Parts: sequence; C-alpha cells; structure tokens
Amino acid sequence: MRPLTLDSLNPAVAKVEYAVRGELAIKAEAHREKLKEGNHGLPFDKVISSNIGNPQQKGLDQQPITFTRQVAALMEWPALAELAPNAFPKDVIARAKELSDEIGSVGAYSHSQGVPFIRKSVAKFIEDRDGYPSNPNHIFLTGGASTGVSLLISMLITPPNSGILIPIPQYPLYTATLAQHNGTALPYHLDESSGWSTSVESIEAAIEKATREGIVSKALVIINPGNPTGALLDEATQVKLLELCEKHSLVLLADEVYQANLHQPTAYPFTSFKKLVAQTQSPVPLVSFHSISKGVSGECGRRGGYFECTNFPEEIIAQIYKMVSVGLCPPVSGQIGVDSMVRPPKPGDESYALWKKETDSIHAALAERTGTMSKRLNALPGVSCVDSPGALYLYPQIRLSEKAQEAARGAGKEPDAFYALALLDKTGICVVPGSGFGQKEGEWHYRLTCLCPGVEEYVGKLETFHKEFVAQYGV
Ligand SMILES: Cc1ncc(COP(=O)(O)O)c(C=O)c1O
Repeated sequence: MRPLTLDSLNPAVAKVEYAVRGELAIKAEAHREKLKEGNHGLPFDKVISSNIGNPQQKGLDQQPITFTRQVAALMEWPALAELAPNAFPKDVIARAKELSDEIGSVGAYSHSQGVPFIRKSVAKFIEDRDGYPSNPNHIFLTGGASTGVSLLISMLITPPNSGILIPIPQYPLYTATLAQHNGTALPYHLDESSGWSTSVESIEAAIEKATREGIVSKALVIINPGNPTGALLDEATQVKLLELCEKHSLVLLADEVYQANLHQPTAYPFTSFKKLVAQTQSPVPLVSFHSISKGVSGECGRRGGYFECTNFPEEIIAQIYKMVSVGLCPPVSGQIGVDSMVRPPKPGDESYALWKKETDSIHAALAERTGTMSKRLNALPGVSCVDSPGALYLYPQIRLSEKAQEAARGAGKEPDAFYALALLDKTGICVVPGSGFGQKEGEWHYRLTCLCPGVEEYVGKLETFHKEFVAQYGV
C-alpha cells in the first residue's frame, strides 16, 4: 500500500494559510495549558486572547444577548415554556412559538437555502435598513459568513487564470479560500496615511497588472467596516467603486459583517452597498454578507449568517441553490440566531428594556476600549495607530529597527512575528502579526482586538513590553 503522505493531498491544501489561528494562537494555547501546571515558570498568570474577534470567548466579558439565548433555549427544548412559565418574557414565548410553527424541530434539516420564514425576516431587515426591496428568494442563510464567502469564491474562480481583487490588509479568509480553489489573489492596497481609505486608482492599477499577467479579474472584495483596519467607506467612494465594477464587469463581494459595530456612528455611519446599488440603479452583481458572529450578537460558535444576491440572473441563483443543497442546510440553531439578530425586541415588547441595556453597554465598551487603546498605542515610540471607527480591531504600525530585524532573521521569523511572539512570551497577550493580513514591503503591523476587559491593565502590559523591546533593540 502506498503510504499516506502530504504529497497525497490536493496541492492547493499546502498553499492555504490562516494566520488568525496560526503560530501565535497555537503557542498561546500551549501557554494556557502550561499555566494549569503549578510551577509553570511563565512571567504571566493568564493568556489574553487578542488575536481573534470572538467576543464571547472565555476570558472576555461580552455576555450573550438574553433575548437571543431565551429564544434559542425554547427552540432547543420547547417543554421549557410550560416547565418554567415565569422564566420567559411573553414576547420570547410568542417568538419561539412562531418559529416552532414554521421550523418544527431544530434537529431536522431545513430548506437548503434556509428556513423561508427566516429569509423573509432577513429581507424585511434589509428593507428597513436600506429603504429598498429585498427578495427572500435571493437570500441564502449560511453557517457564518465564511461558508458563503467560500462558496461564492469557489463558484466565481475559473482556473487557471482568474483572480479576485482583495484589499491589503485583508481578512485571511480571502487568501486562504482563493488558495484552496486555485484562484489568484489580486491585492490592492488601502492607504494607511488617510485612515486606511480605499482608492479606486489602486484597484485600477491592480486590474491593469492582472491583465498584463494574463489574469482575468472576476470580482472585487470590499470589507466594510474593515478588518483588520476598522475603516468605514463613505458613500461617494462606494458609488465610485460600483462604477469601477460596472466598467470592469466585476462581481462585488461586500463583506459587511461589522455593519453594527460602529464606534462613532454620527461621524462615520454605515451605508450598505445594497442600498447604493438600488439608489443608483447600478447593474453590478452584488453579494452582501452578514453574520451573527459580530455586531452585538457575538454568537461566533452558533454559526449563522446570510448573503443576499442582487442583480444575479435566476439561472445563477439556481446554481447557488444546487451547490448549497449539496451541504443539505445551514445549522438550524444558527438560522434561529439570524432571526434574533434581524428581529430584535421592539419598544413596547417585554424584552426591549433589557435588550437595549445590554446592546448599549456592548457598544459603549467597544467604543471606549478602541479609543483608549488607539490613543495610548499612538503615544508609544515608533508606533502609529489609526483610530478605527468600526469593527472590533486596531492595526497599529510598529517601526522595527535593523537590530530587531536582524534578531528576527536569526530566529527564522518575520520581524512582526518576532515582535508578536516576544509580546506573547513576556505578557501572555496574543495578537496576530501583520504578515497574516498583508502590508507594504518594509512595514510592520499587528492586529489586536478591542474586546479585552481591564483595558488599563492590558494596555499597561503592552506599553511596558514595547518600551522594553525598544530599550533592547532601539527604534
Ligand atoms: C471580515 C470578516 N468576514 C467574515 C468573517 C467570518 O465570520 P463568520 O464566519 O464567523 O460569520 C470574519 C470573522 O472574523 C471577518 O472578520
């Protein structure tokens, strides 16, 4: 029998990289295990997971929204409504009954595209948000945004010479999925000096370069609000991006999973691409992705999300339907999470006051932490940090001296990974080096989340570490 070796695998697998769960995260796990031993010898007593936007992760303080969990509990075990009649507000009981009548048991497969009733709720949410119609038959419920992104990329790529335009820095789902499906990542750079803005010119330049290299640009990925940058697009830029997609026949993949994470909503509001496509009557085929993992819901483990297709021919919708049918259906508990996200309690409902209090406090904590962290990071020697108006992250730039770069080379690491590993080993804080998201040649960054409680202590540790690093290696 031939042995099963790495060479036996699809060669695309070897090309897949996913930094958010990469070397740093693996080492952080090892430290966490070591801390359980009495005599661990580590210079810290806890690992702080600042590497992934996973708001309900152990050690962080974001609590699930009570309404969401109460509906989920009744859907899991409907008998609870009779066993503990006083434990649930009336609107929760009514919601669970309504969903149960539509879905039946959460243990049964649903419609492959997602429960029709929940898709109608999503369409209503989109209509209320944008003021334009939404067709439930063009909405697909998913197991998180990731499965939707992955499906669309797999369907759009036509090997061997097609590619998708992705922002740099980007969320590594895009490069990983492109690698898996033998597509080419066509990077365009966001401009850090103007708050990580997106320029049409840099995308045009990336398309021209791809054309010169014989690669057909099939789609444009926009992450708004951005990950890892937290930047928000203004409407004028969004309209220009639609014009660019029309000019170059690109499908627009709008990753809008952070649409509810806005720290300064008056100065930096969110406008969906769907709204602008409708408003300008743009013919651009658009897919917009949303998720229950982010926003105030933070239900990453429940795996729920959706994508809406606009300007897609019915024959392509039918092909998408065929492809999702192969996976039978998205997780039903995730679909119920989507329903709670798009249909939260309204004023007058028994659950409303608590829902409002919980969601207000999540928004306030995130805005406060983001502001404090960016201010304090900016004050450090050799660090500059754009204050992000949205999403869950900061992406500070760190200047690393020739001496630090040499030490990194000696350790066989990228300089930013060297910095991040030293930070983890000294403080227990786990961040992701910028090389996982992409950055300009000779520039170094890291991404950290703004979800960690005890911001004073946490930022204090970052500051002390950075100053010691600078004392050792210069700046
Ligand atoms: C920009 C972006 N898109 C998509 C996702 C995937 O989220 P999920 O699959 O949990 O919905 C993430 C997760 O962090 C993200 O940051």
